[in-house]
Amino acid sequence: MNAIEVEKLRKTFRVQQNREGLKGAFKDLFKREYNEVMAVKDISFTIPQGEICGYIGENGAGKSTTIKMLTGILVPTAGSLKVQGYVPHQEREAFVKHIGVVFGQRSQLWWDIGVIESFRLLRKVYRVPEQDFNRRLNELVERLSLQELLNRPVRKLSLGQRMRCELVAALLHQPEVVFLDEPTIGLDIVVKTEIREFLLHMNREYGTTILLTTHDLQDIEALCSRVIMLDDGNIIYDGGLDTLKSTWGKGREVRLQFAKPMELHALHQLTAGLPVTWEAASRMEASVYVPNELNVSDVIGLIVGQAAISDLSIHETNTDDIVREIYKTGSASAPAIEMLQKSAEVEQNSSAHSRGGQLHESAPAQNEKHIQEKRQAEEDARELAAVSGGREKSEGKSDE
Ligand SMILES: Nc1ncnc2c1ncn2[C@@H]1O[C@H](COP(=O)(O)OP(=O)(O)OP(=O)(O)O)[C@@H](O)[C@H]1O
Ligand SMILES: [Mg+2]
Repeated sequence: MNAIEVEKLRKTFRVQQNREGLKGAFKDLFKREYNEVMAVKDISFTIPQGEICGYIGENGAGKSTTIKMLTGILVPTAGSLKVQGYVPHQEREAFVKHIGVVFGQRSQLWWDIGVIESFRLLRKVYRVPEQDFNRRLNELVERLSLQELLNRPVRKLSLGQRMRCELVAALLHQPEVVFLDEPTIGLDIVVKTEIREFLLHMNREYGTTILLTTHDLQDIEALCSRVIMLDDGNIIYDGGLDTLKSTWGKGREVRLQFAKPMELHALHQLTAGLPVTWEAASRMEASVYVPNELNVSDVIGLIVGQAAISDLSIHETNTDDIVREIYKTGSASAPAIEMLQKSAEVEQNSSAHSRGGQLHESAPAQNEKHIQEKRQAEEDARELAAVSGGREKSEGKSDE
């Protein structure tokens, strides 16, 4: 059984339009105008048990909306979905025992009571037997070094401390599938690393399936073998991280500083006949990108023999650059799509990979994205609270 199965999943929001000025507000009183925003556009994918899959895309691409549908917080407009064999929004009560959810932007812990009290309440919500709970709590507390924090109220924790507690809260009932929506947002590198290691351990030890959205591609590099890339509600890439890197990346970058000014055309001549690309920042500085099938030292040897080099360094293309490039070119760019298509085909044809990358063409960008953010946040928090048994945090309360 697949952990997650999504077929032609769609979510359309009806967004109220506010007309301008006093006259507009008056008109709004009598006749509301609505716009439809399609946040998720008939996407399909499956995630096998035990996989850690990255779910990435620019702001507003539809990541959180997908996660909310997968966790039963939102009802899809069309299409079908199953998580651990359940239809999330229909079988909510039985379903939530099998999943854990962390929204990095929101808390599911009770704001004013000690952390441990929140955990105990969650134990009741999920009906975890006392013994299992204690064993599990001890393990999690140790792994995430929470001993000192257990009796503090959540509002007195730092962001990093709270996130570690949120993870425990989401995992106390040992769910088979975990959804993490930006779990490392705003955290320092130490806590990020700690959380990544913890997630890897959970995955290896218990075979936990993880769907992770993040804007930090280091999270993806550290955790995911597969990425699904969303653009304006469409999946534009679904496949291995390796394929994304090797096919889409420009290769290894050799950065050069020259002792004497060099013109770009002269640089091209140095490597004439080789499939490398040059980019010059100035006449004193340039980069040459060497595809993986070429030997970097051969290329460097060729250049050093003919030009006066004062400094040189080699860099691997990282996912950051690749993804930035894809985002930048986005849905409108035919070459970007073409490149991705090629990379998907390569992966599909290569027998070394069991899963083929898939490519889906994007629809044109849509404009109606004016939403009432605040109301949405409130609605989400309420719904999340209903799912997790948590409660909206009461922010703005004065400290003792
Ligand atoms: N409750 C809602 N009502 C109306 N529109 C919404 C609602 N929730 C999301 N949207 C819209 O749907 C689109 C997708 O939003 P979503 O929150 O899924 O994006 P995201 O990929 O999670 O972005 P981010 O990286 O900023 O978190 C956006 O255009 C957003 O404005
Ligand atoms: Mg989001």
